[in-house]
Amino acid sequence: MADSSKIYPRTGDAQTVYLKNVITRPNIEAGDYTMYNDFIHDPAEFEQNNVFYQYPINQDRLIIGKFCSIACGAKFLFNSANHTMASLSTYPFPLFFEEWGLEKKEVAAAWDNKGDIRIGNDVWIGYDAVILAGVTIGDGAIIGARAVVTKDVPPYTVAGGVPAKPLKKRFDDDTIAWLLRLKWWDWPEEKIKKNIRAIQSGRLDQLE
Ligand SMILES: CC(C)(COP(=O)(O)OP(=O)(O)OC[C@H]1O[C@@H](n2cnc3c(N)ncnc32)[C@H](O)[C@@H]1OP(=O)(O)O)[C@@H](O)C(=O)NCCC(=O)NCCS
Repeated sequence: MADSSKIYPRTGDAQTVYLKNVITRPNIEAGDYTMYNDFIHDPAEFEQNNVFYQYPINQDRLIIGKFCSIACGAKFLFNSANHTMASLSTYPFPLFFEEWGLEKKEVAAAWDNKGDIRIGNDVWIGYDAVILAGVTIGDGAIIGARAVVTKDVPPYTVAGGVPAKPLKKRFDDDTIAWLLRLKWWDWPEEKIKKNIRAIQSGRLDQLE
């Protein structure tokens, strides 16, 4: 039976983890069965190697749904990376408050805050893609290899490029609406198991 409480779902494969079981930061969440594969670094070090500039003072969150596939090197760039552009200079004076006699409590004025990163359910993020702060990626979307995602990606949309643009929809609008109502990822495991062949084959009429 599928068991989302494991770290390593595949026997003998230490390059693939269920993400939720290797996360320690309170401001990162990953849903059941969402997996990360890394053949260069230890996938258990996802937080250190893939989630950048997420400082606790900022309280920005990475929320990832269930059954996502995150490829090696995909990265999430948070708000402390956004040197403020509301200033005459992008030099982060507030970060170097001791040097310039500024107040430590104003350190967050060094960056522009664009908000959380939200990844839906059943999202596939390709190799080396970069997702910027404030972006929401809808259920069922696909992010191409090496994309830089600067704007929201609608559900069941394939997006790619720098900056990422929608390349195509995965299904027609009626089917997408139907899938978004179906939310198969919220079904009990037993029901998913029964329907795996129909889900895989794309035969919606065969779903039980
Ligand atoms: C995005 C992706 C899924 C699209 O696959 P596809 O539907 O077979 O795409 P196609 O080859 O039909 O390409 C459709 C268009 O998107 C473009 N495109 C495809 N992938 C792209 C990418 N990563 N970045 C930018 N453009 C891309 C193609 O050039 C083509 O453009 P055109 O219509 O102007 O000719 C695939 O190209 C990709 O990037 N997969 C990621 C693979 C990966 O990283 N796997 C990691 C292991 S999990």
